[in-house]
Amino acid sequence: PSEHIILSISDLQSAAAAKLPTGIRDFYNSGSTDQITVLDNSNAYKKYKLRPRVLRDVSNVSTSASVLGKTIDFPLCVSPAGIQAMAHPLGELATSRACAKRNVHMGISSFSNYSVEEICEASRAIAPIGHVMQVYSMKDRAKQERIIKRAEQVGCVAIFLTADSPVLGVRYNEHRNDFRTPAGLAFPMLEKTSEMIRADTHDASFVGFNSDYHSWAREIPWLRSITKMQVWIKGVLTAEDVLLAREYGCDGVVVSNHGGRQLDGTPATIDALPECVEAAAGQIRVHIDGGIRSGQDIFKALALGAECCWVGRPAIWSLAYDGEAGVRTMLDILYTDFRRCMQLTGCSSIADISKSSLGIARKDGPLARL
Ligand code: FNR
Repeated sequence: PSEHIILSISDLQSAAAAKLPTGIRDFYNSGSTDQITVLDNSNAYKKYKLRPRVLRDVSNVSTSASVLGKTIDFPLCVSPAGIQAMAHPLGELATSRACAKRNVHMGISSFSNYSVEEICEASRAIAPIGHVMQVYSMKDRAKQERIIKRAEQVGCVAIFLTADSPVLGVRYNEHRNDFRTPAGLAFPMLEKTSEMIRADTHDASFVGFNSDYHSWAREIPWLRSITKMQVWIKGVLTAEDVLLAREYGCDGVVVSNHGGRQLDGTPATIDALPECVEAAAGQIRVHIDGGIRSGQDIFKALALGAECCWVGRPAIWSLAYDGEAGVRTMLDILYTDFRRCMQLTGCSSIADISKSSLGIARKDGPLARL
């Protein structure tokens, strides 16, 4: 680690790229097909400019936020991302510990290489932060139910039902690099070994698990009937689906395009956020992930109405760079960056961040007010 000076998320990305074999690096970084959405996710933040208010007392700033029933250090958590043991041998255990030390939630992927029991145990002694279990609509309902029951048993606070993946997006790199899950990894939530998963090429294993006959009516009442945890829908991009999430009594939605890994050509999540927030009308919570790489990005998403942000790849890059310490560095960078952004825009608490904190840059002419 010492040969790299790590000041930003892109420093972590470069440090990870220097360590990871090409096939694994590309698997983590790629979006689907033409890579349009994965790039849009980050670029779309740039059109928003900050409208700082000056000469305000920012000596006593609080970044803390109430998220999923807990007070967390700042409104940024780690998205569920699979196969973290390819980045670092301790994989999700390291991510879990780093999240607990920074007092933020971690999303646990169904494709994790450690069990939800081990992942929650790793953070329990550090902080009573509840993690979130991610599930897909699975063909094997009994297995899906076992995942959910196990998560609830060890103190997870919510289920994220990832709704954008009835089939897998096409990621060319996996074909070009003939990417296969490395041998010897465990998939304890899916009750599979890596040998079982790597026997399948590319999306074949996924097709085997996920249900493409899922529906709001089939999933949500069933989830409610088997768990008392909060039920969130991850992968929503439209007002129409936020209205359905409200109708079905979900606790919240994560505005997400799966980091550009599913349907290429969907909008950047920050561009889908306003219509989702409007449709939520304060009746259902709205979080966002995709392309968030700085404290300013977090600030902008909050100004546009998100309650909390999540990051996927930054955690993977940090794990690859330096395991738990790397993820801790990533969270600290985003924390100090966000806190400084609040002070420099004249905000003392999350409640001070509003639409009036932003404007939209126009090609010719003055900043447009929101
Ligand atoms: C993911 N993501 C994901 N989402 C999910 O619901 N279940 C999963 O198993 C995974 N696995 C996964 C693996 C990898 C390598 C990546 C990069 C992403 C999507 C993830 O939760 C999140 O939506 C995006 O990563 C957010 O975008 P950024 O922050 O990576 O740009």
